[in-house]
Amino acid sequence: MTSLTIRRPDDWHLHLRDGDMLKGVLPYTSAHFARAVIMPNLVPPVVTTADAQAYRERIMAALPAGDRFQPLMTLYLTEGTNPDDVEEGAKSGLVTAVKLYPAGATTNSNSGVRNFENAMPVLERMAKIGLPLCIHGEVTTPEVDIFDREAVFIETVLDPLRKRLPELRITLEHVTTADGIDYINASKANLAGSITTHHLIINRNNILVGGIRPHYYCLPIAKRENHRQALRKAATSGNPKFFLGTDSAPHVDPLKECACGCAGCFTSINTMSCLAHVFEEEGALDKLEAFASLNGPAWYRLAPNEERTTLVKRDTPVEFPPRIETGAGPVTVFDPLFKSHWDVT
Ligand code: NCD
Ligand code: ZN
Repeated sequence: MTSLTIRRPDDWHLHLRDGDMLKGVLPYTSAHFARAVIMPNLVPPVVTTADAQAYRERIMAALPAGDRFQPLMTLYLTEGTNPDDVEEGAKSGLVTAVKLYPAGATTNSNSGVRNFENAMPVLERMAKIGLPLCIHGEVTTPEVDIFDREAVFIETVLDPLRKRLPELRITLEHVTTADGIDYINASKANLAGSITTHHLIINRNNILVGGIRPHYYCLPIAKRENHRQALRKAATSGNPKFFLGTDSAPHVDPLKECACGCAGCFTSINTMSCLAHVFEEEGALDKLEAFASLNGPAWYRLAPNEERTTLVKRDTPVEFPPRIETGAGPVTVFDPLFKSHWDVT
């Protein structure tokens, strides 16, 4: 196959940041994606419907002229989140989901949830109105090894929460383990999982062997090879429970290349090219549309995009810049360690 036409894709987990960084990275998403679920972990976080409205306006103002793109806004769940405000945001169509970060789990998650009891009223309201909860599924307990944090979260937090509130619709975001894939596969209802581009491509060796590579450091951290294989199998299966959430998370290079570097890979620019390469490797190009364009909207109860995107396999590899320049500083582009010939036209 040398050409593939699919419905225009969406990104169900994206960090756009704010200000000059927003202006610098948004064009790479709006060039390829019709919609994206926008993460609320700004400083300070996007907590209320009014915050989300104002952030949405800043995103629309940063959009290149002529691009059509719809940001799907999320609220950052805190122990003080007001259920009425969440319901109002959802009913107005502005708020697509609420995001749960266990406090301390990742970049800018200090306002996250420490005691789940305090978040129950809002979670109960969400269950009632069918608003999905997007979860960063890692425990933050210092004693738990960083490579085990997702599996322990599923067992000790996610499963009890689902038993307590079975009607709550949950997206387990950026699944990185076979444990996560198995748990989602075994669930009967109200659970889906997003998978990033980079977790289909790198395993933990890529971060640590032959020198430490800060641009592969993201959270949840990439796991062993068997986990990457499980993610590939799920993503390319066509199973409607799995869809693309790039988790493209730009940080300027000085904040990645230092003694205590930030977590996040910047992938919006080359995600579609990388995914076509991966799906072709797996003999599953016919499943790329399900993963990138159909399963996500079905889960979020939105119509798939009507526009089409054509990917063309070139004779020569598609070149991406090693880094992009933003008004906030340079941001290194995710290096998939292969050359993809697939180009988005
Ligand atoms: C994200 C960020 O930088 O905001 N980083 C990451 O490694 N994915 C936060 C997150 O989604 O965990
Ligand atoms: Zn993220």
